Amino acid sequence: MLRIGIVGAGTRGRMYLRALRTVPDVAVAAVAENSPRAAEAIERDLAVPTYPSHEALFAGERLDAVVIATPDFAHRTPALDAARAGLHLLIEKPLANTVEDATAIRDAVHAAGVQCMVAFENRWNPAFVRARAAIDAGAVGNVLSQSAHLSNTYAVPLSMLSWSAQSSPGWFLMPHTVDLAIWLSGKRPARVYATGFRGELARRGVDTWDGIHALLTFEDGTSATLESLWVLPDSMPSVVDFKYRVIGSHAALYIDQQDQGLWSAGERLRFPGTTVLDVDGTPQGFPTWMAVSFARSLLAGAALSPGVEHGLLITHVVQAIHECLVDGSPRSLT
Ligand SMILES: NC(=O)c1ccc[n+]([C@@H]2O[C@H](COP(=O)([O-])OP(=O)(O)OC[C@H]3O[C@@H](n4cnc5c(N)ncnc54)[C@H](O)[C@@H]3O)[C@@H](O)[C@H]2O)c1
Repeated sequence: MLRIGIVGAGTRGRMYLRALRTVPDVAVAAVAENSPRAAEAIERDLAVPTYPSHEALFAGERLDAVVIATPDFAHRTPALDAARAGLHLLIEKPLANTVEDATAIRDAVHAAGVQCMVAFENRWNPAFVRARAAIDAGAVGNVLSQSAHLSNTYAVPLSMLSWSAQSSPGWFLMPHTVDLAIWLSGKRPARVYATGFRGELARRGVDTWDGIHALLTFEDGTSATLESLWVLPDSMPSVVDFKYRVIGSHAALYIDQQDQGLWSAGERLRFPGTTVLDVDGTPQGFPTWMAVSFARSLLAGAALSPGVEHGLLITHVVQAIHECLVDGSPRSLT
């Protein structure tokens, strides 16, 4: 039996708990949650024991692995303590929101000899799995140009995330698109340039970037443009808009994830979302499949991927984007 603990009982911690419970030979032992209100809610809703801190969780339970689902800026301490306790790790994206923290996590993982996966969930997203397969099969040719638009409505920074002022559309959204640009092209990023704008969210009480445009150039001179905004109007049918385009030397791929295949046109047009859902009473969808893959890989003794080095690379790129926002200077990534 593989015994897993979860640190952070918010939106993602709950998803992980339900997903991991579907895997044979896996037990979610308990959850660490430092907000008494969130701890009470998950105990009540999902009947799982809770501890008030990750230290208490690690001391109170015999664990083999842990999922870190705390806010972006709070991955470091539980990840370091878990690695030192010999626990394998699944860490939410971004691995950390500073290169310093991400490097410390990488070093602790290597020193402890544990395995660590970083939760770039689009690796399990059917549209991107198909795109990567087409690229691997040679159907697209050389990937020349990529364009990613991944944005949220105001509701995400203003209502859904209590810690949005300590994050940004760059830290919350761009880890996904930077990961995809590298994974789909199979290329090493060489340089990044970015511009951004702020003011609308600050006027509404959340002092962070409203939007970021980044240009990622690979070692061979091909490139990806990435746009992430936190200021889409709340009248949009979904809180997330996600469009991705790959232009290759032989073919082009277009992916649109906004409606997720379902429109609901009542008083207002809505895209209710089909990514996280129950089928026959069992959680399904690509975030669930990622969690299941983590547990199954550990049970099989297989290597975890994407791993901690890749997580560090993504943090490196996203930090370089934020540095460029401040001083306007392109950053070399090599
Ligand atoms: N699609 C995705 O890939 C995706 C989507 C959403 C969030 N995320 C990532 O997942 C992580 C969690 O996001 P979320 O939306 O679940 O946030 P959330 O705010 O809903 O939940 C975070 C929880 O962690 C708890 N917490 C904070 N510090 C803690 C600590 N030291 N010990 C124990 N608990 C602690 C908070 O009280 C909160 O309940 C973030 O890194 C975020 O970027 C990924």
